[in-house]
Amino acid sequence: MFKSLLDIQNLSVDEIRLIMTKAEEMKKDIDGDTLDVAALRGKNIVTLFYENSTRTRTSFENAGKFLGANVTNISIANSSVQKGESLIDTGKTLDALSTHLIVIRHSASGAAKLLSDNVEAKVINAGDGMHEHPTQALLDMFTVLLHYRKFEGLKIAIFGDIKHSRVARSNIWGFSKMGAEVTVYGPSTLLPDGIDKMPCKVARSVQDAMKGADAVMGLRIQLERQQKGLFPSISEYKKYFAVTDAAIKSAKPNAIVMHPGPVNRNVEMTSDIIDGARSVINEQVSNGQAVRMALLKMMLAGA
Ligand code: CP
Repeated sequence: MFKSLLDIQNLSVDEIRLIMTKAEEMKKDIDGDTLDVAALRGKNIVTLFYENSTRTRTSFENAGKFLGANVTNISIANSSVQKGESLIDTGKTLDALSTHLIVIRHSASGAAKLLSDNVEAKVINAGDGMHEHPTQALLDMFTVLLHYRKFEGLKIAIFGDIKHSRVARSNIWGFSKMGAEVTVYGPSTLLPDGIDKMPCKVARSVQDAMKGADAVMGLRIQLERQQKGLFPSISEYKKYFAVTDAAIKSAKPNAIVMHPGPVNRNVEMTSDIIDGARSVINEQVSNGQAVRMALLKMMLAGA
């Protein structure tokens, strides 16, 4: 098993398949109350989040604790980072404190790799800048797999701020590797340079993006982008790019609706869609628990 999980781009199809299999086993153990609650006894996990998080940090903490590991959450606001300690020095300090695995979120792309290259502990990237958020993509893929039992031939439509989204990047790499077709759609100012070199199509209209989609994924519009002039107003964004009841009519009748959260209700996605029958947003969160438990067990217990 790999020392660190830094991205999806460099995972092999077999590695992704293995993670899906282990996540499904873990989900069965959770649902059937047959978890090995001592699987990670004696293992020390640290969550080191330089950015805010609800889902990712909590599910990693739960994942470790449910499997018997010791989990320590470092609050950056109260840590020696505030005294100027560097990322590498923080990592080496955690090594000296017998840490087996660090889960890191950081605003800088590449921070997780920098840490992994300089510490003994294993590292999981919980989101680094605009680069990747691999465990989010793995839980998204797992959610789609549980619904369709396959990836090949599925159409995944991703809407919103692709440019700044590490979730979009990880999902484009992941779903396309597994044989699904990925289409992205958003304001041209919110598409990244080099999108034509990524394994996805760029749609020119909502209908074009939605057409034949099996899964429709909204992304959080980072409202601070509006201040930078990347789109004129929330109401115009909503009119042309939001996932709405009207827009989704072009998708397949049973298409599922996904969002990594947190969601801006009635901005990138309307409330009736978020809370509607197609929505699997809460399933994504629960599945994230199983995926992260599987990963911790694979990386720390050699399962
Ligand atoms: N999807 C996601 O990363 O959510 P959090 O920021 O709450 O962890």
